[in-house]
Amino acid sequence: MKLAIRNYFSFVTDGLRWNLQFTFSSWVVLMVLILVAAAGAQPNIASIRFDTQTQVFRIDAADMSYVLGINERKEVQTLYWGRRISAKDTFVAARPDPGLSSFDSSINTTRQDFAAWGGGLYVEPDLKVTFPDGNRDLVLQYMSHTIAGDRLTILLKDVSRDVYVQLEYQADASTGILKRSAQVQNRTSAPLVVEQIASGTWNLPRGNDYRLRYLTGRWAGEWNLHEQLIQPGKTILESRRGSTGDQNNPWFAIDQNGSNDEERGDVWFGALGWSGSWQISIEQDEAQQVRVTGGPNSFDFGYRLAPGEHLESPDFYGGYSPDGIGGASRLLHRFELSSIVPHAPNAKLRPVLYNSWEATEFKVDEAGQEALAEKAASIGVERFVVDDGWFGQRASDRAGLGDWYVNPVKFPHGLKPLIDRVHSLGMDFGLWVEPEMVNPDSDLYRKHPEWVLHFTGRPRSEGRNQLMLNLARPDVRAYVFQALDKLLDENDIAFLKWDYNRNWSEPGWPAVAPEDQKKVYVDYIRNLYSIIAELRTKHPGVEIESCSGGGSRVDLGIMRYTDEVWPSDNTDAFDRLLIQDGFTYAYAPGVMMAWVTDSPTWVNQRSLSLEYRFLSSMQGSLGIGANLNNWKSDDFATAQKLVAQYKQIRQIVQRGSLYRLISPQKGSEYSVTESVSDDRDNAVVFAFLHSSQMLYPFPRIFLRGLKPETMYRMKVLDGKLSPDTPAVATGSFWMQHGLDVELRGDFQAAAFTLEKTRP
Ligand code: GLA
Repeated sequence: MKLAIRNYFSFVTDGLRWNLQFTFSSWVVLMVLILVAAAGAQPNIASIRFDTQTQVFRIDAADMSYVLGINERKEVQTLYWGRRISAKDTFVAARPDPGLSSFDSSINTTRQDFAAWGGGLYVEPDLKVTFPDGNRDLVLQYMSHTIAGDRLTILLKDVSRDVYVQLEYQADASTGILKRSAQVQNRTSAPLVVEQIASGTWNLPRGNDYRLRYLTGRWAGEWNLHEQLIQPGKTILESRRGSTGDQNNPWFAIDQNGSNDEERGDVWFGALGWSGSWQISIEQDEAQQVRVTGGPNSFDFGYRLAPGEHLESPDFYGGYSPDGIGGASRLLHRFELSSIVPHAPNAKLRPVLYNSWEATEFKVDEAGQEALAEKAASIGVERFVVDDGWFGQRASDRAGLGDWYVNPVKFPHGLKPLIDRVHSLGMDFGLWVEPEMVNPDSDLYRKHPEWVLHFTGRPRSEGRNQLMLNLARPDVRAYVFQALDKLLDENDIAFLKWDYNRNWSEPGWPAVAPEDQKKVYVDYIRNLYSIIAELRTKHPGVEIESCSGGGSRVDLGIMRYTDEVWPSDNTDAFDRLLIQDGFTYAYAPGVMMAWVTDSPTWVNQRSLSLEYRFLSSMQGSLGIGANLNNWKSDDFATAQKLVAQYKQIRQIVQRGSLYRLISPQKGSEYSVTESVSDDRDNAVVFAFLHSSQMLYPFPRIFLRGLKPETMYRMKVLDGKLSPDTPAVATGSFWMQHGLDVELRGDFQAAAFTLEKTRP
């Protein structure tokens, strides 16, 4: 039972009457506030207050304030979202917008935080339902609320029917990122169908010069950053693919055009925690207001709720930064590592791994893998991963998926001898799996053809010769869990690379009643999450990577269950600069796997030096994916040196603050990133040149994030700096005067560190 010590407390301050509901945790928070105030420090806690007189909620966290009011129609109305407002300021009661005309009525121009479709709403709704009697009108009104520490819960109800919606807001004290979700409850006596459910709407301050940034991509070409002015009308970012997809990623950032750059200006941003079909609508309405609404995709959606049942939206995270898009990324990175990933905020650093995929493809066997493992260990690799090809009758991508037994020809004694050898070499062992898929040429499919997504009597479209298992089915869920659980029980496996190499087609679920079939969009994803959660509970030491033919399933939903993600199958170290730059707008370098592979690369047939390839991968979580059987002794020596250096700097790269000093976007010849440690005593800088032209030198590099008065010692890891560069200088010197790297030619790279000098 949960112990709740509650009492209610009102007091008068600044002429206002505050009515606070105090829980035990609120008292603790109050004590902390008093202590922090006494020490003269900035409080690092979130506060949520409700003014009973004006009916205004105010959420303050880090550098952000979010203010909501209940207006006279009992709608929950956004009053403010942006930079933190002084505690001395108060907000007047929410007042509905009068509307523009009979065509653009008040409910459309009033900035509702959560609007149901009804009463003549034309802007994007957060909720749309159909009742069995044909009624499709839903108008929500405020009923009650609770405040518990950093959480606000607001209960809404339809004007006449017993449909309730519970809105949740949770503020993160250290970043000011708000987590929002909505739960619709059917308390009527008949079933209803939810045709659209969003987590909520983010309303930006009124303005007509906003610019939207978003990420697009495709296989081997993920993480392209786009910018566009927000114009009247709607931009929809979405996936209808059953999973996240890389065509759009569920992330957005909005700034005011013209006034901002990488490190300056207001930025509002958000990311959806959902790995199924999703949509984020960015809409400028007829009153030039911008609203962002996000949740599961409403296309082909319909979730039947029986009486007494409820449906929960995914979490939608939103934040504000006054420090440009760079500041917005850093807040998101910090939030992901401190609140999202498994074991947050104490997740382990990513080990240096070796993966055999590009070296051997499906041709894995005990002797070949052992030979690679020995070579990997010799350069300092900490985790050895066997990729696709070890199971079932898997000789190519045409067969075997679904049959998760060790192939007896390739591994006649099972995986144990290889795993033992890997352990004896001082590494842990990882294995590739693709549990949600089945090849028609597999024992599993021959036995259970009804287990895949399909419509009765219709063709079943294949992708990479495989079909999708319907994870929403309880028997499929049980099979997938048991197969993986057995694998982990029988083998000493530290890591699973969880792959997913196609999107959905024919999303039918004939085993359930027709009116329940569309539940597959939600139930599949819930089962996916619950399988991983259950596996992690039973095998707490196991780490998991989310891979989807590259970066097609990266979002804040799957990141709650996986320790790292694979951004792209494109491992060309030059292409990767752009891919990694795009990735870091939304996601932390600490979860971004980056392998050093062979040159020339299979992608572009481009030749790059081993040093260049290493430095590119060292911007994230380093892995090696080259065929070590082809390496010369010089390559091993270079790799040993750079792997050892990476281990020295990985805390800074994986956990520090990232500054994109020169972005490779827009065809830039240059790219420079800097990572600064949390205590700002250390920094690592990577610089890359595409091609020198017309004798122009590499642009001067101005560092960021250092302490101006602290002395830092410069150390070159690779490449050359200008001979004028001092060995030691203040943070202010490195940031204001800057420094020059000597990069000339094609595909050149350099890296250096700065370390606070010790007396
Ligand atoms: C996907 C992954 C690759 C590799 C192959 C194996 O394409 O992204 O890294 O694991 O599958 O089939």
